[in-house]
Amino acid sequence: MSAKLDPWGHYAIEDYRKLLEEFGISPIDKILGLLPHKHKYFERLVIFGHRDFDIWLEALKRGEKVAVLTGFMPSGRPHLGTAMVYEELKFLQSLGAHVKIAIADAEAYIVRREDRSEVIRRGVEFVAHSIAWGINPDNAEFYYQTAMDNEYYRLIQLFSRKITTAEMEAIYGDINPGKIMAALTQSADILHLQLDKYGGYKYIVVPVGADQDPHLRLTRDIADRFEQELGLKRPSSIYHKLLRGLDGNKMSKSRPEYAIHLDDDPETAEKKLANALTGGRATAEEQRRLGGEPWKCSIFELYVYHLIDDEKELKERYDECVNGKILCGQCKRIAAEKLRKLLIEHQKRFKEVITSGIAEKILKKPSF
Ligand code: TRP
Ligand code: SF4
Repeated sequence: MSAKLDPWGHYAIEDYRKLLEEFGISPIDKILGLLPHKHKYFERLVIFGHRDFDIWLEALKRGEKVAVLTGFMPSGRPHLGTAMVYEELKFLQSLGAHVKIAIADAEAYIVRREDRSEVIRRGVEFVAHSIAWGINPDNAEFYYQTAMDNEYYRLIQLFSRKITTAEMEAIYGDINPGKIMAALTQSADILHLQLDKYGGYKYIVVPVGADQDPHLRLTRDIADRFEQELGLKRPSSIYHKLLRGLDGNKMSKSRPEYAIHLDDDPETAEKKLANALTGGRATAEEQRRLGGEPWKCSIFELYVYHLIDDEKELKERYDECVNGKILCGQCKRIAAEKLRKLLIEHQKRFKEVITSGIAEKILKKPSF
């Protein structure tokens, strides 16, 4: 893997240990004891790294002001990778934290060159899916990047003074005016909550996929440079491993046949699973003799990230696989059944959320 992380790329990150070393992300296992309660993503090291999350947790414990900020780029339909962030937000809400969520319509327009009206329509779906997943709208705020107040845009203007081209290139590789705007907009997303207008200084944590770390590095530098002038401080962040697509590459909205979307009908999802890359052997005989390789398997990954909550059950699946007690066909049928249940229940709640009109109501539309 090259040293550069590209938040706008389409790759799977194979070696998370290297990421910790190269970019100075701290391993999560050392601070698990600080969590008020457990969550499978921490237990299973799906959330593998953090920056200053211990500081955020300690502030929470002391009863100081904390908040959570993250964003979704509404290009394509939300999928099981998107739902990982929903799951994390749900967990952080369960600790008592308020969450604020950017719908990154500016980023989708600039970097993905998407049609604005389409992106704005999809923003509502992302919000409705997050509520259907279990995010409590009473303790959450959602906004479009292009529908914010003046103070937010002022940050983007001010930020541009204290970054250099060389630094942007070092972080992002090839840059252009659009990418710089998108990056500074994301910094404004993360830092604006500390302005007086938004309640003043508070500890912010940003839950994201590992590919977003370049934005966090930039934002931390910007916070340092504006500490004196604007009272901004570095955000904390937690990083999850990227859910791979069913072909083993990053699950991406732009390759729908290898992603499970939250609005896929269960039959379609089942067909996708049937064609998924597994850690199985070339023949049944070989698999019985040598066992499968769950660490290479996109089905097993679904168990870990979404389909099995119980640790004991997960361990049994793992053991059965490596001991050659189960073959991939049967294992896929078990996964398909669990996935069908998950999708049916989620889609039922999604329909209720849409019918209630709440997503539309809480997401203020941009004026043009
Ligand atoms: N860039 C993120 C993505 O591609 C979306 C995003 C926008 C975001 N603003 C943010 C993520 C602020 C975290 C914090 O999905
Ligand atoms: Fe994956 Fe299941 Fe096959 Fe093991 S048995 S490789 S977990 S599909």
